[in-house]
Amino acid sequence: MQTTMIIPPSSTVGAGSTFGHQCVIGQNVRIGANVKFGNMCVVEDNTVIQDGVIIDHFCIIGEDCVIGSRTKIRSHVELRKKTVVGDDCYIDSGVKSSGLNRIGNRVTLRYDAIIARGCDIGDDSYICPQVMTNNLDHNGKEVGGAKILTGCFIGTNSTIGAGITLAAKTVIGSKAMVTRSIDVAGVYIGVPAKWIRDL
Ligand SMILES: CC(C)(COP(=O)(O)OP(=O)(O)OC[C@H]1O[C@@H](n2cnc3c(N)ncnc32)[C@H](O)[C@@H]1OP(=O)(O)O)[C@@H](O)C(=O)NCCC(=O)NCCS
Repeated sequence: MQTTMIIPPSSTVGAGSTFGHQCVIGQNVRIGANVKFGNMCVVEDNTVIQDGVIIDHFCIIGEDCVIGSRTKIRSHVELRKKTVVGDDCYIDSGVKSSGLNRIGNRVTLRYDAIIARGCDIGDDSYICPQVMTNNLDHNGKEVGGAKILTGCFIGTNSTIGAGITLAAKTVIGSKAMVTRSIDVAGVYIGVPAKWIRDL
């Protein structure tokens, strides 16, 4: 596809990488090999996009981010400053990260999930559409993002409270509100989320 864009001299692009129309690449950006961008994507300064990443149309990848190898990012995704995404992840359309988040390897974030600042999502977790993780309390004070350990499943439209830790392999049903940390993996549902059974 024909492009109208400039790669600053401080940034590098690996072999086989392609760009759609009107992408904007910041300073000191490192783009690996065989990365494929759609149209009108922005990559801000100091970000690293590793080999084989696919980024669809209209995405904004903020400063100091890392996108791991072979991760696929669908359209209209915004990942703000210092979001680190592991290898082989799937980030669906409309996902937002408010920055300083770490997303492990092989994580799926489905449509319109919102990951608030300071969240840590373990490898192999599956976050369903419109999940929100919180960081602020009701006074607007930063409490810290959620810690979602490996292999968790969080159902559609659930909210994970600020500073909450979820044990590895925890299952949260759709439309739950998790208000306390979960130390023992199991299936939890409701508002507030309560245990209903072991795995
Ligand atoms: C929580 C969940 C995993 C439980 O599945 P399950 O173990 O097969 O549970 P069951 O369907 O047997 O339901 C057990 C009970 O919990 C209730 N229940 C199930 N899910 C619920 C939910 N999300 N909220 C409130 N109650 C729920 C059921 O009505 C049932 O109640 P009953 O015993 O009074 O009849 C599942 O219902 C769920 O919410 N999955 C999320 C699905 C999703 O978001 N998918 C998106 C994919 S992109």
